[in-house]
Amino acid sequence: MCGIAGYIGPRQAAPVLLEALKKLEYRGYDSAGIALIEDGHIQVRKARGRLQHLMDITSGGMETPGHVGIGHTRWATHGEPSDRNSHPHLSNDERFAVVHNGIIENFRQLKEMLISRGYHFHSDTDSEVISNLMQEYDQGSLVETLAAAAVHLEGSYALGVLSLDEPGAIAALRKDSPLIIGRGEGENYLVSDIPAIISHTRDVYLLEDGEIALMTDSEVSFFDAYGAPIGKKVFHVDWDVSAAEKGGFEHFMMKEIMEQPQALQETIRPRIKDGRIDLSELGLEGGWLKALHTIHIVACGSAYHAGRLGKNLIEMSARIPVTVEIASEFRYSDPILQPDHLVILVSQSGETADSIAALREAKRQGVKTLAIVNVLGSTIAREADHVLYTWAGPEIAVATTKAYTAQVAALVLFSGYIAQERGSAYAPRLNILAEALLKLPEVARQVLDDHSRVQYLASLFFNHRDIYFIGRGIDYSLSLEGSLKLKEISYIHSEAQPAGELKHGTISLIQPGTLVIALATQKKLRDKMLSNIQEVRARGAVVLSIAARGDKEIAAVSDHFIGIPPLSDELEPILAVMPLQLFAYYVAALNGNDVDKPRNLAKSVTVE
Ligand code: F6R
Repeated sequence: MCGIAGYIGPRQAAPVLLEALKKLEYRGYDSAGIALIEDGHIQVRKARGRLQHLMDITSGGMETPGHVGIGHTRWATHGEPSDRNSHPHLSNDERFAVVHNGIIENFRQLKEMLISRGYHFHSDTDSEVISNLMQEYDQGSLVETLAAAAVHLEGSYALGVLSLDEPGAIAALRKDSPLIIGRGEGENYLVSDIPAIISHTRDVYLLEDGEIALMTDSEVSFFDAYGAPIGKKVFHVDWDVSAAEKGGFEHFMMKEIMEQPQALQETIRPRIKDGRIDLSELGLEGGWLKALHTIHIVACGSAYHAGRLGKNLIEMSARIPVTVEIASEFRYSDPILQPDHLVILVSQSGETADSIAALREAKRQGVKTLAIVNVLGSTIAREADHVLYTWAGPEIAVATTKAYTAQVAALVLFSGYIAQERGSAYAPRLNILAEALLKLPEVARQVLDDHSRVQYLASLFFNHRDIYFIGRGIDYSLSLEGSLKLKEISYIHSEAQPAGELKHGTISLIQPGTLVIALATQKKLRDKMLSNIQEVRARGAVVLSIAARGDKEIAAVSDHFIGIPPLSDELEPILAVMPLQLFAYYVAALNGNDVDKPRNLAKSVTVE
């Protein structure tokens, strides 16, 4: 969601900015722009639409001179996608240029105040108030001016700022929206996400809320919200640059689907020692775990679906009650939390605004928090009391795949760990679970090897208008994810229903030819699913079932069947999601959709 880039150094800045913005395209955007300082003025080039359009009109940036610049890809929140609403925004006197990620919640009051003082506005955005606040509260120093302007801002913001009075510098400030500074040799970078600069430098500074950075080509200085200097440590990024490239696949999504065995391996392997699940890295003390009364899992989208599986698994193995809540609901629900509760935040990016707010609410109530996060050093990872990283590597496609399965794997590990530490009745099964976890990456590989069968099935159904998913228990949690994956990239209407609930209403939508994808991976519920499949087939539905390989009865009552290799009840859902991801991918690709960057969506939802 919105991308920020900045460059200062000996090279022509515009091509560097455009290259960085290109690498941020996956975050989702609808317009792009750059601003460069050159010959005593700030030159702005911006355009609605794809970044390629901006590249075309600037000859890849070559027509825009200057060695100091900022750039932006905008995902519209206030004001339609248009040239004039694109960033950067200039102050009225054209001495300040600003790029902004986030939302300024009090922009209407600020705009009215600025208009009353004679300012004019050229866009409908909330962001334009910031450049004009800089002009209004100019203190003669860029850092002090930014600090003075920020006092008036309410909401979330990551800002990159240029000033004509300090033409050899870029200033940056963050609150509730990520911002990273890359340290180069005689040059420095500003970005909203690490993949945008990883090919230039691996030494980065992660800005914290309220911190200001001032970059020149040779140094970076940091200040607190009042402009007082502070120190900051360099963070070294050690993942491989190829992880952020397509590596021969047509889309990042397919590459990431195929990377799941490795993501599972990295997430699981170091945490199984001598046949036992070892999460001592969390630092959760045994006595506290034994006294743990309730767990609240809070997340958004696919991470919420992973959380639902977490509930199924934790309740089954550790017998602790678990609630699962959508972060945007949790944060405003006045949640009832107690000292013997644990709040688990699940997030790939670690920057989702609602999940951050939910984490802060839990902390405000003094409750212990655990983050299951993929991005190292992200806000949620930094602010939670305990962190369990998923080692899925960078995920670029907007629709999550490998990060989701790694989240589920982390929750399986956690459920097993607390069962073990509490000595629950399930504990004797843990050796079997640990063994199965070690086999999971290899079995996942086998499931993915069968992708051409899923491609064939997608070719039968890619032009359907409505597709339903049904399942019970764990399979219902999985159905939710299969359905979300399909709708977000294929734009086909889809719903997931608990299979037993269908006849309480939704079954009226089933007509001859309607595709129903039925998940029946759990032994104890398969007979019930058998009946549910027959119910929808009796109404003319075409059924594609996913169940244990060799389940002849389920295959016999279905029109199409995908078999999942045997592993264990706890882990088959992780495997069963893979055909669903592949199905969504092929259906979207057959429809000619932009699979990696689906319309209206952003990778990291950093606004409320
Ligand atoms: C769907 C998807 C989203 C995210 C959600 C949470 O494919 O990617 O639903 O799961 O926006 O994002 P994170 O995990 O970054 O908090």
